[in-house]
Amino acid sequence: EILPVLLCGGSGTRLWPLSREAFPKQFLPLAGEHTLLQATALRAMRVRGALAPLVVCNADHRYVVAEQLNEVGITHPRLLLEPCARNTAPAIAAAAFAAMADGGDPLLLVLPSDHLIKDESGFRSAVETALANAPDKALVTFGIVPERPDTGFGYIRAAASDGALRHVDQFVEKPGIERAREYVASGDYSWNSGMFLFRASTFLAELEANEPDMFARCSEAVERASKDGDALRLDKAAFGAARADSIDYAVMERTQNAFVLPLSIGWNDVGSWNAVWETIEKDAHGNAAHGDVITIDSRNTYARSERLVALIGVEDLVVIETDDALLVAHRDHVQQVKDVVGRLRESG
Ligand code: GDD
Ligand code: MG
Repeated sequence: EILPVLLCGGSGTRLWPLSREAFPKQFLPLAGEHTLLQATALRAMRVRGALAPLVVCNADHRYVVAEQLNEVGITHPRLLLEPCARNTAPAIAAAAFAAMADGGDPLLLVLPSDHLIKDESGFRSAVETALANAPDKALVTFGIVPERPDTGFGYIRAAASDGALRHVDQFVEKPGIERAREYVASGDYSWNSGMFLFRASTFLAELEANEPDMFARCSEAVERASKDGDALRLDKAAFGAARADSIDYAVMERTQNAFVLPLSIGWNDVGSWNAVWETIEKDAHGNAAHGDVITIDSRNTYARSERLVALIGVEDLVVIETDDALLVAHRDHVQQVKDVVGRLRESG
């Protein structure tokens, strides 16, 4: 039995102004008809042996999540509601405790709810390969061939071996640019896709060894959780007291039991407007658009708006318009969109 655990608590600040605190990226249809969450849920359900997914999200997003899943035919999703954001390690820990609460110990397929995967069947066969080859007590992660020295990813070096699944020698979460350049140039590293496969008890044992306090708080948060329809509300005091950290820093960098399976499945984390631009069709000059856009003497632009947009004589521009905001940015600077969100937060 495989329990897909969908992580649905990110804020997606680099896709401002479309992605907002109340409506972050996973709830947007960034490519195709489905939102990223819907696409992830459907992808997870099609894995052989998969149970209905457990979605871990902020309590504020409960109804958006339920509504979006209903729309794709998942009428009674299991929801685990967080009273506050504590990053992915506590979110996964709470899911693992909740999964074991009724006496079982399922395999957890942990999936970010905000990625795109073009090759669905490739994804499914990767999960099956991992299932067939993972040793007992393994924490399996899925690796992606790196395309650039991106500092927003985890980097994985696998031990030399012939098997499909390789032991992880080194896991470095979000290295600085110098090291990222070295890693990519060496050809020895893959990106961490952020998807994981392990038994609930295996993850919890690793967490207990590396983060005993986080382990205890999350255990308490599930023990004292309250049932609310299809949802389980984590205890606020206990969960809020857990240190906020990602699974990558809290567990994956430290464990001796990580294994990596390389993937080539058209994976894209849609982490910036550039990444969105990469996923859509362009005209002969590299211009891409969502909506009515006229481009004249322009190259490599991306525009998205409900209104008619005209771009003349510009290159490498991103133009995103929503009801209450307009973003104009150079393609080389789209990572700084998150700084806009930072400023907005400061000024309340
Ligand atoms: N429920 C819940 N609660 N989900 C969360 C929380 C939280 O507090 N914080 C983040 N998430 C969700 C996000 O929505 C996303 O789907 C996933 O967990 C990963 O979080 P990100 O914040 O997007 O992580 P990242 O992109 O910086 O880094 C991770 O993903 C990279 C690949 O995209 C790491 O695993 C990297 O190593 C990896 O390369
Ligand atoms: Mg991410």
